Amino acid sequence: MQSGLARKSEANTDAGTELRHKLHVGIIMDGNGRWAARRRLPRVRGHEAGVDAIHRVVEAAPAQGIGTLTLYAFSSDNWRRPPAEVTALMGLLRSYLAREVDRLVRNGIHLTVIGRRDRLPDGIADAIGRAEAATAGGTALRLRIAVDYSARDAILRAAARVERPEELTREAFADLVTGEQALRDVDLVIRTSGEKRLSDFLLWESAYAELHFTERMWPDFGAEDLAEALSSFHRRERRFGGLQATESEPAAELAPSA
Ligand code: FPP
Repeated sequence: MQSGLARKSEANTDAGTELRHKLHVGIIMDGNGRWAARRRLPRVRGHEAGVDAIHRVVEAAPAQGIGTLTLYAFSSDNWRRPPAEVTALMGLLRSYLAREVDRLVRNGIHLTVIGRRDRLPDGIADAIGRAEAATAGGTALRLRIAVDYSARDAILRAAARVERPEELTREAFADLVTGEQALRDVDLVIRTSGEKRLSDFLLWESAYAELHFTERMWPDFGAEDLAEALSSFHRRERRFGGLQATESEPAAELAPSA
């Protein structure tokens, strides 16, 4: 007889397959500090307003054709920030995990957290585990929050886990890098606040991602900004290193003459 666990993971695989047909968008949520400074507020108020922007974007994403949304909340280099700011950011994460799980479950959102967990303050890794388990049945959106995350470290750790390098495929290596099976590559990376760099975010997964940079500060970002980014994405032609359809040689010219 099939166990409940097996049935559950089968159901998750079905949902996962469906979400993989929808877009994977990554967002570098930047500009919280400047947003606060312009209002003569402490930086932490910018981060708090940033959490409201997360709510808006998560709510809007499924209807805009997004199946997977990866948000960069705390990079491994962010530990270099002043301790008070790090503590405030970890506090926001802690309260997000404590308060949002019910809403995520109601809205069919499957939350996972990527990045290292061993350096997080006490209790957060357990709270992440509980939130992931509680939301695992969500089929409307895969929400991945990157915390203590470094793409280069993820690639390095994956390389260290390769057992037979001579048999390695891109697909198998991708599973080691992402820590999951057949995660869809990132289609679009959005960065707010006018900065134009990737800052060690999803470097493997974004090999062919389109990039969208907006002047909007993250705390002001909303559903319309997401729609604008997607509309610019849909206007682009993605060639993945190939040629435009109209540029290809007609098949008859390539075929040997009869
Ligand atoms: C970059 O803005 C933003 C961050 C380093 C933190 C992002 C965090 C949140 C939006 C909220 C916390 C997350 C969760 C999941 C509850 P910055 O501070 O570097 O802005 P600046 O470049 O204007 O100084």
